Amino acid sequence: MRDYILLGLVTWLARAASDPSRYKAQQPMLAPLHSPGSGKYSVQTPPLDTDWTYQVGTDPWPQYPRPKLARPKWQSLNGVWTYANASGHDALDHPPFNRTLSKEVLVPFCLESALSGLQGERTIHSWYRTTFTVPGSWDSEDRVVLNFGAVDYEATVFINGQKATFHRGGFFSFSVDVTSYLNGGEEELVVFAFDPSDSDSYVIPLGKQTLTPDHIFYRPCSGIWQSVWLESAPRSHIKDLEIQGDASGLVNLTVVATDGLPSVVNITIHERMTNSIVAKHVANAGSPVTFNVPSVKPWSPDSPTLYDVTITMGSDTVRSYIGFRTVKKVRVNGVQRIVLNDKVIFPFGTLDQGYWPDGLYTPPTYEAMTFDIKTLKRLGYNMLRKHVKVESALYYAAADELGILIMQDMPSLPSSLKPNKIQYAEFERQLKLLVNQFKSYTSIFAWVIYNEGWGQNKSHKPDFELTDAIRHLDPTRLVDSASGWFDHGAGDFSDDHHYASPRCGTPTQYVGTEEFHPSRIGFEGEFGGIGHNVSANHLWKVQQAIDGINETYEMWDTVETWNARGHFLLSELLFQVQVYSCAGAVWTETTDIEGEVNGMMTYDRRILRPDVVTWNADIKALYDASEYRSKENR
Ligand SMILES: *[C@@H]1O[C@H](CO)[C@@H](O)[C@H](O)[C@H]1NC(C)=O
Ligand SMILES: *[C@@H]1O[C@H](CO)[C@@H](O)[C@H](O)[C@H]1NC(C)=O
Ligand SMILES: *[C@@H]1O[C@H](CO)[C@@H](O)[C@H](O)[C@H]1NC(C)=O
Ligand SMILES: *[C@@H]1O[C@H](CO)[C@@H](O)[C@H](O)[C@H]1NC(C)=O
Ligand SMILES: *[C@@H]1O[C@H](CO)[C@@H](O)[C@H](O)[C@H]1NC(C)=O
Ligand SMILES: *[C@@H]1O[C@H](CO)[C@@H](O)[C@H](O)[C@H]1NC(C)=O
Ligand SMILES: *[C@@H]1O[C@H](CO)[C@@H](O)[C@H](O)[C@H]1NC(C)=O
Repeated sequence: MRDYILLGLVTWLARAASDPSRYKAQQPMLAPLHSPGSGKYSVQTPPLDTDWTYQVGTDPWPQYPRPKLARPKWQSLNGVWTYANASGHDALDHPPFNRTLSKEVLVPFCLESALSGLQGERTIHSWYRTTFTVPGSWDSEDRVVLNFGAVDYEATVFINGQKATFHRGGFFSFSVDVTSYLNGGEEELVVFAFDPSDSDSYVIPLGKQTLTPDHIFYRPCSGIWQSVWLESAPRSHIKDLEIQGDASGLVNLTVVATDGLPSVVNITIHERMTNSIVAKHVANAGSPVTFNVPSVKPWSPDSPTLYDVTITMGSDTVRSYIGFRTVKKVRVNGVQRIVLNDKVIFPFGTLDQGYWPDGLYTPPTYEAMTFDIKTLKRLGYNMLRKHVKVESALYYAAADELGILIMQDMPSLPSSLKPNKIQYAEFERQLKLLVNQFKSYTSIFAWVIYNEGWGQNKSHKPDFELTDAIRHLDPTRLVDSASGWFDHGAGDFSDDHHYASPRCGTPTQYVGTEEFHPSRIGFEGEFGGIGHNVSANHLWKVQQAIDGINETYEMWDTVETWNARGHFLLSELLFQVQVYSCAGAVWTETTDIEGEVNGMMTYDRRILRPDVVTWNADIKALYDASEYRSKENR
């Protein structure tokens, strides 16, 4: 503890003495490296733990990682690998083949996290190494596919000394057929990860990660942070699957085959509870196929019905699932509303950043991950805004299953730097990756391109171009082109950010870049954010973060006064729903994070601030007011 304080003081003095600008390069104020002498894996002591930290063990995330395209023959590669910090990109000229690296790391936890066993800092260039044996029960005629859920930010993958693939983009999955590199015995897997975060002049999609944490920007996450696994698949197999269903029961599905041929695919849809078959269809791979499922039960947050899907192509059989729902923007009694399955809905959620004090980007366990979603539902929320982060496939599948709408942000570029043309083009490429990789999840109802102008081109045209690009890839969802600040008129939302009071769909809304436009959905993309300090044992024990707590918009002394203020702000929002054009809102935020103490829960998820009965009633009042105003012939 003393070290943190001392380091914090030094950093603070250095900061005060130099430039007050919060974005100048500084040494990051991370917890010191607890470099284990032996190099053996052990979970480090994070600045704050959770009830799950010490339950993780060395076999983390054993669940099958990709429920939308699941194969029976698979093997997890999560667990203890070896690790070495690399000096720079030139390390790639001398990969550490055939030798165990000096430290151990627990995959899939970011290198900066305590659960990784390293709690490293400036882990910009990294080597990972493990070995595996392909299960003898797998058919030797079949292919072996290696899958990564996500590696931040670039990954170069070697199998037995040969480069198998390269991937760029810290939030997206990738796969490679490694069969031709295998030797049939113990196989060596080496990964070089490069993650500059916001160092030097890098401008990459990274969300809130920064090497210089400062109040609303947090410790970065580098390297492998989602599951790694192998699977066995026939030579010609299903490589990708897009599957969407609408409220009328229309299935729209595209099967992508490895060989690119229009092979015959057999599709069977089952009711989840009874497993009885509700539809069968025969089609071809390679292009969109549509067919109808009679009398489907649509998906909604209150009734998150899903159907299981089996798809067979030649000798390949995969399991998937589908939810049926339709999202539209409709003018109802003069107000632009969000309509889900022909019924007006008032999406009300929290700003949800998906950070964990022990795993950073990676929740410690599946149970921990779903605890957040369940808590939000318990409070009465029907939605969350996944803020400038993308979660794992298992997260979205859990949201589909538990029933919560998701407004999905694109991970932002650094807030204070201007992208050049190449960086902007890469942002656009990754935005399309986001939509393509996640458009099969039922719970996502809207895409958000920009948050508060971060990395946004100040001229109007690109907003419209990106909005059109998303609509082209995915016509089934709404687009919030600019959540906060620079609204150029693109997309479906007129989205204001305002603290602490909401300013949602109001004609008196600030005239300027966030002026309310009644032709689009009046939306409050962020409000609330009120703070309540807690005792040191629920805080992120890093002095820089503790010093920044006073930057929280409002601080309330007790949980009772915090609740009273929350009740008042929700009543202001209710008024805006009753008399103005407010059609949805986002409260900041799900949990405390580092120096932010404005969560529904503390960062360790041990304290729940809201008085559940009052919040339930206040939130229900918003839904009721929206419904009442949407009634015909009111
Ligand atoms: C990794 O290497 C870089 C460059 O050599 C160095 O700046 C950094 O401190 C090292 N990080 C760790 C965790 O050893
Ligand atoms: C690793 O060692 C094996 C066995 O000695 C050898 O066959 C292989 O070529 C080595 N790989 C590399 C990349 O040096
Ligand atoms: C089916 O999906 C494809 C690809 O997303 C899209 O282009 C097409 O318009 C959709 N068809 C229908 C009938 O919705
Ligand atoms: C697909 O369905 C057709 C018609 O029902 C059947 O003849 C064929 O054997 C099925 N193919 C597979 C791979 O299941
Ligand atoms: C911003 O948009 C304008 C207009 O489309 C374009 O000329 C300019 O190159 C864009 N800037 C970047 C960095 O992409
Ligand atoms: C918040 O609480 C911590 C721990 O009790 C304390 O060190 C810190 O000064 C407090 N900050 C504010 C702004 O109240
Ligand atoms: C927060 O406290 C620090 C000293 O710990 C001070 O320098 C800073 O100005 C304060 N910020 C606000 C917003 O009060």
